[in-house]
Parts: sequence; structure tokens; C-alpha cells
Amino acid sequence: MCGIMGYVGSQSCSTMIYDGLKRLEYRGYDSAGIVVLGDSEIEVAKSVGKLFHLEDQLGRLSTKAKMGMGHTRWATHGAPSFENAHPHTHDGFALIHNGIIENYQALKIRLLEAGTVFASETDTEVILHLIHREYAKDNSLDKAVMRVIPMLEGAFAFAVMTAKEPGVFYVVKNSSPLVLGCGKTENFFASDALALLPHTQEMIFMEDGEIAKITADAIELRDFAGNPLQAERKKLPKLDSTAEKNGFRHFMLKEIHEQPSVIRTTLEKAFSLSGTLKLQDSVLGLSKFSLEKIKRIHIVGCGTAYLAGSLGRYFLEKWAHIPVTVELASEFRYRTPYLDNETLVIAMTQSGETLDTLASVKFAKQAGCPIYSICNVPFSSIPRTSDATFYMNAGPEVGVASTKAFVAMVLDLFLFTLDFGQRRGHISQEELEKQRSYLQRLPALAEQALQQESAIEQVAQRYFTATNSLFIGRGNSFAIAMEGALKLKEISYIHAEGYAGGELKHGPIALVDRHIPIVALAPRDSHYEKMLSNIEEVRARGGQVIGVGSKDDTRLAALCQDVLACPQIEQEDLQSILSVIPLQLFAYSIAVLRGTDVDQPRNLAKSVTVE
Ligand code: G6P
Repeated sequence: MCGIMGYVGSQSCSTMIYDGLKRLEYRGYDSAGIVVLGDSEIEVAKSVGKLFHLEDQLGRLSTKAKMGMGHTRWATHGAPSFENAHPHTHDGFALIHNGIIENYQALKIRLLEAGTVFASETDTEVILHLIHREYAKDNSLDKAVMRVIPMLEGAFAFAVMTAKEPGVFYVVKNSSPLVLGCGKTENFFASDALALLPHTQEMIFMEDGEIAKITADAIELRDFAGNPLQAERKKLPKLDSTAEKNGFRHFMLKEIHEQPSVIRTTLEKAFSLSGTLKLQDSVLGLSKFSLEKIKRIHIVGCGTAYLAGSLGRYFLEKWAHIPVTVELASEFRYRTPYLDNETLVIAMTQSGETLDTLASVKFAKQAGCPIYSICNVPFSSIPRTSDATFYMNAGPEVGVASTKAFVAMVLDLFLFTLDFGQRRGHISQEELEKQRSYLQRLPALAEQALQQESAIEQVAQRYFTATNSLFIGRGNSFAIAMEGALKLKEISYIHAEGYAGGELKHGPIALVDRHIPIVALAPRDSHYEKMLSNIEEVRARGGQVIGVGSKDDTRLAALCQDVLACPQIEQEDLQSILSVIPLQLFAYSIAVLRGTDVDQPRNLAKSVTVE
């Protein structure tokens, strides 16, 4: 992970880099730092913790500096401390890095034996000392970088500068993302385009195995063997606006409230508005595949995206009659799944940058699989590696705990299923029409779900001191139980487990006592009766049950201490989209009561670009 940004040109740059880091803070907030090239020396400002602490340190940097780079860190090697904060500097050299140097220990031992003194515990500092050592051989940063790259193993993106060669950066990409921004007499680089869009729309997306030499007037690209490459420039659309809280206390709450409009926009874009009812290929992109060839599907993702994907299995097997597996991306690429050109791989990802998911996509692509992605961020790495992408209409998601992106992903998967099922002849036009009428009810129902906010806050008052909790659900609600548990643990730090209702008796029921709240999803679907029996089993052992179901469900209310009311829809796949909303609000209210940092919970980051 970590976010990096650099600038060389004619403008004063320290504040510009700080502003760029604000846009990259979602990538990590353990520490931050900026280095600039002053009159002839490098100058550094660093701070531990959230980025705003760095603002007080900016006065250390010359306002005249026209070249500099910054970093926001998510700690991998070495605690979040001042010493471990990037940029790392030594003898006029400065380096920032995103990724992991997997062989750093072996390299470090050799450097230590040769007398190098390390100032930090990071893997990054090894690259700095290697470049410094190699530079001494022929006083060429270019040659030093070229000699060091083959020594490094792992996924990395790094940038290096030295006061000995003012005005030039070398940036190197291997797996971790790097984008170059092209200006007139100024150039930029960053971990993602978002940081650069206020300054330029013209970007070069670096590929793995590339090095860029960046000066104010030129960007020269080459491969790791030194062969020059032609850079392909892309013009990105202007940034609409920076994400704002719009009066909400937290981004997460704002994003929860945006869900009805996300659903509405998605449906408007997906369905053709012209007379005939049709899903739009320009949005879903399925015509890019020869569907008759596809015999099975693997869905991969991480975190919330994985949980959204697990609903895809239920949808696709039921409606499109095709075998589907769903797997955590970090596991998928390290086993030997059966892959061939008849296996469609669907990557679920909000950011489009999650390294485990990206690596799975590359791995499957190499095995000949067609790749489809469902993603929120245009031009990000995973869509660029996919054959087709269904872009969510969720807008920027800032809260680290994903909410509206989850709802968008589930809805997108359902729409994908309808299109896929129809193209394969399993969904008739009449059926599509019926499903569309269910879908059209969703935005209003999602709005109703949000109206329960204050009632849910009241329930949260009774449970916010819990230390453990269980979430149970059956069928589609199993994935929702997992997502509800994930939301709660991410932002409130209460231990929470999501379980299939029927599985409770095979182990977790041993945890049940009067201190543990059990959140039980009981929409009026085909699993309803069985779910009520599971709730009875918990009650019989003294557990406190918080039901999630219909407001007027007297049977459920009679079995539960509390009920989080949720609007019902008789199409049970779509019920999942509604059922998750009370769980998001519940987790949010509990986190607020516990006083945690809701939008930037400890130890987490929005985009995880390390394995
Ligand atoms: C991180 C985030 C999660 C997210 C996961 C996958 O862990 O904190 O909220 O679900 O990455 O991210 P992606 O961008 O691939 O959906």
C-alpha cells in the first residue's frame, strides 16, 4: 500500500504535494512525509499518524523548492514511527516506496556486513543504500538504479532523487501502481491518477517492469533491460469535485445515505430507456465474450468485494445455470485452480488496485481465462487488465469501511446475471421484465431502510459495550451476515463473526451466553422458518438476539430482544441489498458510541496494494 506523489517543474511544490497526499491518504495513514530539493540540499518533513500532523511540519521546507515528493504510509515492515516514515534519506539521496521488497533481509545483511548504518526497520531503506552504494561507482543515478533493480524481489513502486543530480527523478514500477502526469514544463508521478487530476488530465499508466526518468521537460520510459519504450498518453476526464461530507458527520454515513441514488443511477444506466426492455451492452460489455464457450465462472475479490462476490454465486447458479466458485483473491492465485479459456474470471473490486485481486487476474489471464471486472474506479489497474468492465455508478467512496460500493457490486452482479442468463437462453424477455419491475422498487425501499436510522441508534445504545458478537443468516443472508460482522469489527473493533444460521450448532453455539449479542437476519424469504428455529436455539441458551426483518413481523419480534426493521421485497436476491443497510447503520452507530475513528479505522486502508 502507501501512496506516493512527486513533482518537478516551475511551481513551488511542498503544499501541492501535501494536497496530493490528502487524495492518497486512503492508501494508508500510519505516517507521512515530504522531501524537497531546496537550494542545493534535500529538506525533509515527516510526521507520525494521520496526514494532518504533517501540515504543521511543512514550514521546514523551502517554499522556493520546485522539485519534491511525498509519501503516506501503511506500515508493513517496521512500526508506524518517525524513523520508519518515508521519505528515507541518506547523504543527499531520498527515496519513497510502495510495496514490499521480499528479499530485503538478505540484502540488508550484506549491507550491514559492509558497514552500512540503517536508520529504520523498513525494507525500503535497503533500496536507498543499494542505490547510494552503486552511485559511488560512477556518479550516475541512472546507472545506479539500473544496477539495483535486478537485485530486488517483490512488488514495488519507488521513486528516487538526489541533490547530486538536481531536477531528475527515477521512478520504477513492478506490480504496485504508478501513474505519470504530463504537463508543460512540469511533470508528476503518483500512485493513482486522483492525486494528479487537479494538475493535469494527461497521464501515462506505467506497466510492470518499467522505469521512467522524469524531468520538468521530459518523461523517458524504458524497460528493466534498458530498452526505450513509447509511452502511451491517455486523457482522463476532469475531476468533478473532491469528495465532501455534505453536512454528514462522517463520510461513511454520507455514503450509506447515497445508496438509494447509487441504485437509481445504476438502473438508469444499465437498462436501455428506449421502447424495448434491454440491458445495455455498452454498460455491461458482455458481447466481448463468446458466451457459448464459457463453461464455469470463478469470482475473486478481497474483503467486502469478496463478500459481494459470494452473492454472485447464488445469483448466477440460480438464474444462468452455470457452475460458479467464489474465492478470496489471496488464496486463489496460490493454489492450482482449474483454469482454461472456457473459464470466466470475474474480479470484484471497488478500487481496481487491490494487489491480491490484480495478481489473481494476471494469473488467470496467463492461463487463458477471459476476464471481467466489476469496479468503481475508471482507468485503475484491474479494469486495464480485464477484457471488459462493468463500472459501478457509486462515485468516490472515502470511508474505509465499504458501504455503497458493496450495494453497487451486488446490484451489478445481479444485472450481470440477468444479462448473462438471458444471453444463454435461461431468462426470457418476460422474466427480465418481471425482474426489472422488482428492481425499480429498490431505490424507494432503500430510502425506507434509511429512515430507521434513529431507531437503530437506540438499539446500538444497548449493545455498544459488547466485546463479542455473532451474525447469522441463511441463503443470501449468509453473505449479508458476514458483511454485517465485517462492518462491525472494522469500525468498532468489537469481535464479530458471520455464520450460516444452520452452521451455528456445529461450533459457534458454544459461545452463546447472555453477554453475546447475536444479530439474526430473518427476512421473509424461503429460509424464514429455518431461521426462526435457529433463533430459538440461541434463545434456549440465553443469547440476546437482535433480529433483522420486517417491521410488522410479530413472530420475529416475540423471539428477539430488539429488531432492526428492514423493508421487504419478495424477490429474495434483491432483499440482500436492503438487508445490509440496517447492519451498516448499526455498525456505524456502535462505532460512534465507542468513539472510534469511523472513516479511518486503525490498521486499515481503503486500497491494499501489498500482498
Ligand atoms: C481493503 C478495504 C476493504 C475492501 C478491500 C478490497 O481491505 O479496507 O474495505 O473491501 O480492501 O478492496 P477493493 O478495492 O478491491 O474492493
